[in-house]
Amino acid sequence: MVYGHSLLHVVASLLILGLSGATKKEALKNNSGVKPAGQCGTWVKEGDGGLFTSPNYPSKYPPGIECVYIIEAPPRLCIDLFFDERYSIEPSWECKFDNIEVRDGPFGFSPIIGRYCGQTVPPFIRSSGRYLWIKFVSDGELEAIGFSGNYNFTAGSAAVTPACTRHSPL
Ligand SMILES: *[C@@H]1O[C@H](CO)[C@@H](O)[C@H](O)[C@H]1NC(C)=O
Ligand SMILES: *[C@@H]1O[C@H](CO)[C@@H](O)[C@H](O)[C@H]1NC(C)=O
Repeated sequence: MVYGHSLLHVVASLLILGLSGATKKEALKNNSGVKPAGQCGTWVKEGDGGLFTSPNYPSKYPPGIECVYIIEAPPRLCIDLFFDERYSIEPSWECKFDNIEVRDGPFGFSPIIGRYCGQTVPPFIRSSGRYLWIKFVSDGELEAIGFSGNYNFTAGSAAVTPACTRHSPL
């Protein structure tokens, strides 16, 4: 964790994004769900689903980044999330360093579904409601290719209150 170094990288990334802005815009269909905007990989939203990736995927992600992705399903639907098999995040004990964290709801304090790193592709995840909150962080060293998450929507079993089954809670 070298914060000065990381900050430089973020600034450098912003400059690169700025310079290649014209070409980047075509690939970034809609990154309105990504904070900070524009720094956090590809974000594609369609009516029936979409995908989001770590920055530079499938090349190595940069050090010292934090990306938050919030996925929203249409009313009465839940979210199914599948990770691409091309997946690698720097492994660490309890994924304390680089990791992707998935929470069952719209907030950073929503119940945690899982925190993932290493070479094993995270399991299929289904939200219990309309939202998933996802955060990807990397520290100052040992970058890897990261992830690509594909999602689509599924009907809950109850018509009024969404009640999709939550998958693999901690
Ligand atoms: C991007 O998505 C948001 C939320 O889904 C929507 O409000 C906005 O209009 C979209 N922007 C573009 C340029 O499609
Ligand atoms: C969602 O995507 C998965 C994996 O690509 C697919 O198996 C499933 O049929 C899709 N569901 C819908 C409702 O399109």
